[in-house]
Amino acid sequence: MEALRFGVVGCGGRGAGVAHLMTQTPGVRLVAVCDVDETKAKQVGEQLQVPFFRNFEEMLTQVEMDAVYIATSVEHHFSVARRAILEGKHVLLEKMMTTSASEAWELVRLAEVRGVCGAISYQLRFYPVFQKWREIGQDMQPLLIISSRNPGIMPAPYLRPEPWAGITDFLTHDLDLVLWVAGKEPESVFATATRNAITSTNALDTLCVTLNFGDVTGLVYGSMGGWGIPSVHAIIGRKGNARIVSNGVEVNRWSLSPSGIYERVNDLVSTEIVRADTTDRLLQHFSAWVQGEREAPPIATFEDGFEVMLVHEAIWESWQSGQTVSLETVKRKLSAANT
Ligand SMILES: NC(=O)c1ccc[n+]([C@@H]2O[C@H](COP(=O)([O-])OP(=O)(O)OC[C@H]3O[C@@H](n4cnc5c(N)ncnc54)[C@H](O)[C@@H]3O)[C@@H](O)[C@H]2O)c1
Repeated sequence: MEALRFGVVGCGGRGAGVAHLMTQTPGVRLVAVCDVDETKAKQVGEQLQVPFFRNFEEMLTQVEMDAVYIATSVEHHFSVARRAILEGKHVLLEKMMTTSASEAWELVRLAEVRGVCGAISYQLRFYPVFQKWREIGQDMQPLLIISSRNPGIMPAPYLRPEPWAGITDFLTHDLDLVLWVAGKEPESVFATATRNAITSTNALDTLCVTLNFGDVTGLVYGSMGGWGIPSVHAIIGRKGNARIVSNGVEVNRWSLSPSGIYERVNDLVSTEIVRADTTDRLLQHFSAWVQGEREAPPIATFEDGFEVMLVHEAIWESWQSGQTVSLETVKRKLSAANT
């Protein structure tokens, strides 16, 4: 397999980190970096010894590359990804995919037309413990899928009032996880949220989302006030439950004893512990996927990113209206806007 040649757009905290990772990860090669802030582009380019640019167009025309990794702030994801796809480049896009489902859909369609691969950096999917949790949980015939994380007060760039900022930006990973476990689109979404309860920045600071999949319910919640509160990743099913613990997945089943009493059978399935981020695995996987292993799980494709964006729109609408919002309604509005 050839090393996939990447240009990086956005040399802030995340982009610089992933650019650095690309120089150490087999299967990928960093060939150029770009940032509208030339100081940042220069710093990363010089450190990693690749050409650097202030202008994305210049990077595209002057350096040969197979793929573009985009880590700009979210409102620039769409325009940069669109341009890269039109140039025939594969795209690895940071979360959340775009600022709207409509933009996300346009990227899905464009990537298909141009025959390029598009994926979202939902790297939680690449932790062995999440993969094992999903596998065991699916065997349990899920009834309830819970994903909750609490970041504490988020860094300044996220403390903004837009629907895609604040705690929503953080919990987009959890929404993707629940959709990934459920393996289908929710029928409807109900969301409650607060703003200005924890910070006075107008950012959404707590969020609780119920996803109705028909026979399964998803629950995603978190808060900037949740410092110290442990994450919860649990699947409760007809045949038992599975939850992530520090060194693997705790599994509880129950069996009916001959005396007619339900007994709990408890087990721990240990998994490889990954202390670092799993973005290196995601990069390697993306490279393999682009080069022919198209079906290889667990990457989050543009289609998966679009599904999450539909849910994000439903969350916003539900919180504003106080009503449950059906995904069909969101999709109908989307197709009406696109015709
Ligand atoms: N997957 C993860 O776990 C994870 C973690 C952190 C951040 N992120 C995502 O990564 C992205 C960047 O986050 P960050 O914390 O590095 O933000 P940041 O603000 O530190 O960096 C963004 C950079 O993009 C540059 N930029 C903006 N528009 C541009 C354009 N059109 N062309 C070139 N450069 C442009 C800015 O100058 C800035 O340097 C966001 O989408 C964020 O949600 C993902």
